[in-house]
Amino acid sequence: MAIRFTLNGAARSFDGDATMPVLWYLRDHAQLTGTKYGCGAGLCGACTVLVDGQATRACVLPVGSLEGRSVMTIEGLGSQGLHPVQKAWIEEDVAQCGYCQAGQILAAVDLLARVPDPKREDIESITNLCRCGTYVRVRRAIERAARELRAGKA
Ligand code: FES
Ligand code: FES
Repeated sequence: MAIRFTLNGAARSFDGDATMPVLWYLRDHAQLTGTKYGCGAGLCGACTVLVDGQATRACVLPVGSLEGRSVMTIEGLGSQGLHPVQKAWIEEDVAQCGYCQAGQILAAVDLLARVPDPKREDIESITNLCRCGTYVRVRRAIERAARELRAGKA
């Protein structure tokens, strides 16, 4: 039976192997390659997407678990104009190689939806890895986005 879900605001159905990781579906079936493959084991966060608004590692999530749920990737986040977190990322010039950054941004979007005024330990609770070591700029960008969102400017 086909699995039905929403992807970046559009209805989707999939009737292939329900055990396939969502990451494979996104990259190979939906051609959304902004979501990256890092470890494939739920450890690094390169594959982070939002599932019903929650940061989720797509490499260890079977596509069958998406029934009735809503997925947002980095492509969807920016589709109506840049999200405040994306703007803050540009302002703080966060990215180095960029490979981890879609996942970092989506993890930050999830954090700020739950914690509008995050403390340092809240930001450091994000476990997404960056092999380029951009953690200080990631933190600054999250703090900037939080300020802008709280001020209603973003
Ligand atoms: S690729 Fe999914 S957590 Fe590393
Ligand atoms: S910017 Fe290179 S891995 Fe994070």
